[in-house]
This record gives sequence, C-alpha cells and structure tokens, in this order.
Amino acid sequence: MHSLPGGTWTLGDLTVSRFGYGAMQLAGPWVMGPPADHDGAIKVLREAVDLGITHIDTSDAYGPRVTNRLIREALHPYPETLHVVTKVGAQRDEQGGWPTARQPDQLRRQVEENLESLGLDVLDLVNLRLGDAEGPRAESIAEAFTTLAELRQEGRIRHLGLSNATAEQVAEAQGIAPIVCVQNLYNLANRGDDELIDALAAEQIAYVPFFPLGGFSPLQSSALSAVAARLEAAPMSVALAWLLHRSPNVLLIPGTSSVAHLRENVAGAGLELSDADLAELDAIGR
Ligand SMILES: NC(=O)c1ccc[n+]([C@@H]2O[C@H](COP(=O)([O-])OP(=O)(O)OC[C@H]3O[C@@H](n4cnc5c(N)ncnc54)[C@H](OP(=O)(O)O)[C@@H]3O)[C@@H](O)[C@H]2O)c1
Repeated sequence: MHSLPGGTWTLGDLTVSRFGYGAMQLAGPWVMGPPADHDGAIKVLREAVDLGITHIDTSDAYGPRVTNRLIREALHPYPETLHVVTKVGAQRDEQGGWPTARQPDQLRRQVEENLESLGLDVLDLVNLRLGDAEGPRAESIAEAFTTLAELRQEGRIRHLGLSNATAEQVAEAQGIAPIVCVQNLYNLANRGDDELIDALAAEQIAYVPFFPLGGFSPLQSSALSAVAARLEAAPMSVALAWLLHRSPNVLLIPGTSSVAHLRENVAGAGLELSDADLAELDAIGR
C-alpha cells in the first residue's frame, strides 16, 4: 500500500503517502466549470487511490465546487487511509478571478461548504490560503487563522496549514495553533523557499510545493532535459524525483487530468539521482 516513491509522512496524526495528487487540473479551463471529460476525471481519481496515493489536495474554489464534488463522486465513502486536504481563504468571481475571502464569517462558510461538497463530518486538514495570485503578501493573519483555530477546537477541522505564506506568517500562525504543513510555490526553477523548507523540516512540518511541474507553464530547462536524456527518463519524472530528494518533509501533489501522466509520474518519481545529477539540477534554480 505504501510502496510509492518517497514512502510516507505523518501530518499530525495522519499518515499519508509523500506522493499525493493535486486535483485542481480536473476542473475546466483556468479552473472554472466542469471538466471536458467527466468520466476521465473520475478515472484519474480512482486510479490515484488504486496506485496507493493517500493524500489528495483540493479546494472548493476549484470550479468552483467542481473538484470537491468529483472527489466525492469518485471516492465516497472514502477509504480510512485516504486524506483529503482542502483550502479556504479565496473565492471565485465571474471572471475567474480569486478574490480574497478571509473574514471570519466567510471562512466559516467555506469550511461548511467543503464539508458538504466532500461529504465529510470533519475536514482532515485545511490550509489557509494567503496572499494573492502574485504570491505571498506581508500582512497579519491573526484574525483569519484564529477563526480556523476555533473551528479546529469545535471539531470541524482536524489539522491546520498555511498556503502562499511567508516565514513570518508561519511563525505568527504557530503562536495561535499548531500547523502541520505549508503549501507554497516551489519547483526546480523556483527556489525562493529553500530556507523555509529546511526550517520546517527541523520542526517536522511538511512542505507541499504547488506547481511542482511548473503549473500552467510546464517546467522547461536545458539542464533538466540533459539529465532526463542521460537517465532515459521523462523530464517531469526527474523534476518530481528531485523534489523527493530535496528534503524528507517535501510532499508531492502534482496535478494531471490524464491517467497515463499519473502513472508515468508515480513510476518516474522513484528515479535514483546521483550526486552529479543532483548538482546539475540544483544549479537550475539558483
Ligand atoms: N495553494 C495554492 O495557492 C495552489 C495554487 C496552485 C495549485 N495548487 C495545488 O497544487 C496542485 C499542483 O499544481 P498544478 O496541478 O497546478 O501544477 P503542476 O502539478 O505543476 O502541473 C500540472 C500540469 O502538468 C501537466 N503534467 C502532469 N504530468 C505530466 C507529465 N507526466 N507529462 C507532461 N505533462 C504533465 C498537467 O497536464 P495534464 O493534465 O495533461 O497531465 C498539468 O498541465 C494543484 O492540483 C492544486 O491542488 C495550490
């Protein structure tokens, strides 16, 4: 069951496969509306679980309300080992924008909506999404994170995390309630969080890179292509294997709407990388 590349990690009291799945790509174009291939989306989710993945990342803002409902349709009642991680703090507007929604009443409503759309009584892990599409923003998160801490006390949420956060916001959150993960933009070419990853590893807190494959602009690098060609592997496999090598607290949530890519990514992430490979790959984002 846990023979996926990277083994497992414990989020609070929840054991998850380090190789997870990010569900955002299952919604329609630009994460709005239903998928073009509904049955294909259901197949991807079921394949993820069949492959042994026990960590699925989602948000009710995807679609909106599309990916959560697909997850419920494909996988409910959930296997005990499966943990669905969601996030709150943003909603969608008519233009597909992601306006901030972090007032206490908005957060409470989003938690209830996630519980309803996923068909759960308790959410295993909720990330508070901060900043905006440009990235993290230096601002206090006290009011919003206190609301989530209260929802945790009330038994609606098991564990908390942050997304799109600065190191200062991580420290501020920890003064309010424990966090088990930080989900930020990071990949071979975007290394701004190197220090944060190491600091979180020292505290046994997971770091979950979003856009591990580059997101809407897939990773492209001549060094990545050269290492992949030498190893006779797909560049995406090398990018994922590098992330698993980066630090034991790094969890993967690559997105795909394709069963073939999902299988390729799971198989490829276990690639052995030599010190020379790692040095060459490390140089890409530095
Ligand atoms: N916290 C946040 O603010 C935030 C922001 C963005 C994302 N996220 C989370 O992070 C997860 C991952 O991000 P993401 O899905 O946007 O980006 P990603 O994982 O970096 O990349 C996904 C893209 O890579 C393609 N892909 C996947 N495997 C491939 C392969 N083997 N060969 C070629 N192309 C491949 C996918 O296309 P195909 O569908 O064709 O495979 C898709 O276009 C999301 O699902 C979401 O859960 C969080």
